[in-house]
Formats: sequence, C-alpha cells, structure tokens
Amino acid sequence: MSPIIRVDVPLGDRSYPVLVGAGARHELGAVLPAGAQRAAVVTQPGIDVGVDPGVPFETFVIPDGEQAKELATIGKLCSGFARFGLTRRDVVVGVGGGVVTDVAGFAAAVYHRGVAVVHVATTLLGQIDAAVGGKTGVNLAEGKNLVGSFWQPAAVLCDTDTLATLPPRELRAGLGELAKYHFLGGDELAAERFGGESLDALPLAERVAACVAIKADVVAADETEGGRRALLNYGHTLAHALEIAGRFDLRHGEAVAIGLRYAALVARLADRIDDDRVAEHQRVLDAYELGSQLPKGVDHDEIIELFGRDKKATDGITFVLDGPRGLEVVPGVSPDLLRTALERM
Ligand code: GLY
Repeated sequence: MSPIIRVDVPLGDRSYPVLVGAGARHELGAVLPAGAQRAAVVTQPGIDVGVDPGVPFETFVIPDGEQAKELATIGKLCSGFARFGLTRRDVVVGVGGGVVTDVAGFAAAVYHRGVAVVHVATTLLGQIDAAVGGKTGVNLAEGKNLVGSFWQPAAVLCDTDTLATLPPRELRAGLGELAKYHFLGGDELAAERFGGESLDALPLAERVAACVAIKADVVAADETEGGRRALLNYGHTLAHALEIAGRFDLRHGEAVAIGLRYAALVARLADRIDDDRVAEHQRVLDAYELGSQLPKGVDHDEIIELFGRDKKATDGITFVLDGPRGLEVVPGVSPDLLRTALERM
C-alpha cells in the first residue's frame, strides 16, 4: 500500500492536516480533536464509505443532490445534533462530496456557535477543492452559496480508494478543477515536490496532494478571499454564467473546462498571452479528455449580462486572466472583447 501523503494548511493555531492516499479514511479516529466524546456523521444517500470515528456516533443523512444545500437542511441537522446531545467539545464529520462538506461545515460553524468539523472527502472535486479551505454554506432561491461562513476543518481525509467507484460524470466534475491547477503552478510543484514531469503525469494520490498543496498555500495567504484566493476561480466566470443560465446539462467541472479555454482566448485577445499558451490550455484539457466547446444555443448577450452580475464584478466585468506574471484578477474587461472571444469559441 502506498504511504499516506500529508499536506498542512498553515493557519497558525487553526492549522490542520490533509491526509491523501489509499485508505486515508481509516485515519479518522487519529485526527479527531482531542476530547471529542461523540461524533455527528453527516452524509448523503448512496455514499457507501464506511467510517469509524472511534467514539460513539450517529449518522445524519441529508437529501441527495444540490437541493440539500438549503437553510432548512441546516435547521434539521442542528435539531438532530441537539437531540443526539452533541456538545461544543464534540465533532461533526462530513462524509461525501462538496454538497456534504459545504452543509456539514456550515452546520458545524453555527451549532452552539461553532463545533469542530472533520471532512472525509469522497469525490475528486471535494478532495482538490470543496473540503479544503473552510468555505461553507448553502444556496438561496436568489443564488448559489449566498449564506455561509468561513469555518476551517480540524482535518481533511482524501481517500483515493473512494474515487475508484465514482460514476464517470462525477469524476469529470473534478477533472475541470484539476485542469485549473495546471495554471496555478501545478506543473512546477509536480516537478519540485513530487519529481514528476507535469501535474497530469503524476499518480493520482500525488496529483490530488499537489492540488491540495496549491490550495493550502493560497488559503494560507488569503483565507477570506480579500485578493489572491480569487485566483482559484480561474475559468469560473463563464462556468458560473453557463450554470446560472441553467439550460445546459453541464456538471461544474465540465463548465469550468469550457471556461478555461474561454479565459485563454480572452487573454490572447487582450495580448496577455501568445498562441503557444492558448495551445497549452488546449493540451491540458485534452489530457483530461475534457470537451471545451460552448454548448449549442448559448445566447451571447445573456452571457455578457451574467458576467456583469458575477460576485467579482465590483469594477466592471472582472476576469481571472493568464498573463506574463501568471494568473491575475483583471477588472474592467471590455464587453466587446468578451463577445469576440465568445464568437471564437
Ligand atoms: N472553491 C474556491 C475556494 O475555495 O476559494
């Protein structure tokens, strides 16, 4: 069995380990906060991942899918925690993908004004993004992730064995995010820390660990997204617009893949990168067999209007764009240029 890789998220006295590798979920008892006497395990139907916190526990199953990310779920969970007798010294354990870790993390953040949470991330998207970094929250009818809090976990376990059973589309949902890390220094890190040629050439556990290490570094520098953390949204502006438009059958990672190619075209039109760098974006997307064509029926006017409503758009339309100094948050991107790039997709 390959060894478990440990990556730390350095946040002073709130620092925590992320353990990555085959069988990492079996470390749960070892990473539970000292003094926790019971655990509330939060999961979804169909997540068949056995965990043993090593203390008495009760399992709370929230509804399937993104619909579970609502305030009503938080209320029901907190009532359940209270009936179970969970105290502030105990622990919530989220076992699942991004929906579970967002919901379990938020319930932990508000129950008794905050109890510890440990995440056992079972999807690729959860392991390389959602479970790490402390963003928690739920959706409102008015939009995604509009209510939430930053609540860092006490530990995260990324068991790569759980990825083997993921349905192909669930895996693709994570591959778009994986592709993103190539442009956040992933290839350099793969070479320096893991001796690989590039991120996509690493074995899976090392690849997940490299993404976690990049995210840990960004979160340590900018925990509450005052600046650099926004770079993690590379490829997401078009992705979010397609998701909000809502007519397209796209998983998040599939939308991010389209958004990455689009962001490269925008950067090229703005003379920030050359044709070789655009080709490098395509090479990475092809390496993960990710399609990057705009879905049929996309209304360019609607997309440009949605860009203007993005949370980042405080100073005109804002994009994360590649350039000579790497990724940067660029405000005031011209709608004409964005329209031309949409036409070239
Ligand atoms: N998923 C982006 C972030 O954690 O900031």
